[in-house]
Amino acid sequence: EDLGIVAVGFAGGQGKPGVDAAPSALIESGLLKQLRDELNYKLHGDDQVHSYADIVPKDDPPYRNMKNPKGVSSVTQHLCEQVYSHAKEGRMVLTLGGDHSIAIGTIAGTAKAMRERLGREIAVIWVDAHADINTPESSDSGNIHGMPVSFLTGLAKEDKPEYFGWLKPDNLISVKKLVYIGLRDVDPGEKKILRENGIKAFSMFDIDRYGIGRVVEMALAHIGNDTPIHLSFDVDALDPMWAPSTGTPVRGGLTLREGDFICESVHQTGSLVAVDLVEVNPSLASENDLGAHETLRTGSSLVRCALGESLL
Ligand code: ARG
Ligand code: MN
Ligand code: MN
Ligand code: MN
Repeated sequence: EDLGIVAVGFAGGQGKPGVDAAPSALIESGLLKQLRDELNYKLHGDDQVHSYADIVPKDDPPYRNMKNPKGVSSVTQHLCEQVYSHAKEGRMVLTLGGDHSIAIGTIAGTAKAMRERLGREIAVIWVDAHADINTPESSDSGNIHGMPVSFLTGLAKEDKPEYFGWLKPDNLISVKKLVYIGLRDVDPGEKKILRENGIKAFSMFDIDRYGIGRVVEMALAHIGNDTPIHLSFDVDALDPMWAPSTGTPVRGGLTLREGDFICESVHQTGSLVAVDLVEVNPSLASENDLGAHETLRTGSSLVRCALGESLL
C-alpha cells in the first residue's frame, strides 16, 4: 500500500521550542523503516524534515490576538498542498508534527482531495486532552495550536490570504462529522462553542463511564459507514505517565493501550485516509532523557497501530 509521508518541523503554533524536533527524532528511532519493512508500506515523500525557514517571515506581529499568524498561515497553506497531492493520488497520508496548528493544513488538504476524488466529505476524529476550537477572540493564550478546529469548521473566518484567508469552502469540514475523544481540559469559551454547535465529544468522563470500546463504537457510529476518516492525534491525549514530553500535559488521560486501541479501531474501519501525530516535544524531558524516549516510543506505537500493526 502507498503511504505519503509529510514531516513537519514546525513549532510556531505555540510558545515552547522543541516540538519541531519531533519528526526527525521519530524518524531516527526507526519509525519509517518499520512502516516500510514490517508493515510493507511503499513510502512517498519526506525522509527529511522541512524547517520552513524560507516561508516563515521574520517580522510577524500578532493579528486578531493570534501569535505568529503569518508564519502559521503560510506553513499550513504549504502543508495543505503537500497533503492534498498525496491524497489526490490515492495515498494514505501520515503527517508527523510539529504542534497541532499544522492540522489546519493537513485536514484542509484531505478535505479537498476527498471531495474531488470521491465526492465525499471527510470525518475527523480528534484525539486530544484539548478541544483546540478557540476562535482568535475566545483564546486566552493567542497560540494558534488551540484554534485549528475553529478555522477548519469555518467557525473562525478571515478573508486576508496571509491570515488563513486561503482556506476555501473545499478545505473545510462539517461540525457534524467531527468527533472528539479524550477531552479533559476545555476552556469555558470552547465549551460554549461545542454546546452551541452540537459537536460530538467523548471526554475522559465518558471513557471512565462506558469504557474505551463503547466510546470508540459510538464515535464511529456518529461518523457513519463509508466516510473517509482523518485521524488527528495529539499525544497529550495520553496520560503524562505515557507521554510526559509535550507542551501542555494534563493529568488523568488515556493509557497507552487506550490510545493504541483508538488507532487500531480506526484502522480496522478501512476508511482511514490520513493520520497526524502532533505535540511530541523531545526537549521537554523529565528525568534526563527518559521522558523523551518514552514519549517517542508512545508516538511510534500510536502511528504503527493506526497503520495496522497489531491486527492479526
Ligand atoms: N486551550 C488552550 C489554548 O487555547 C490550550 C491548547 C492546547 N493545544 C494543544 N494542541 N496542545 O491555548
Ligand atoms: Mn492537546
Ligand atoms: Mn491538540
Ligand atoms: Mn490493514
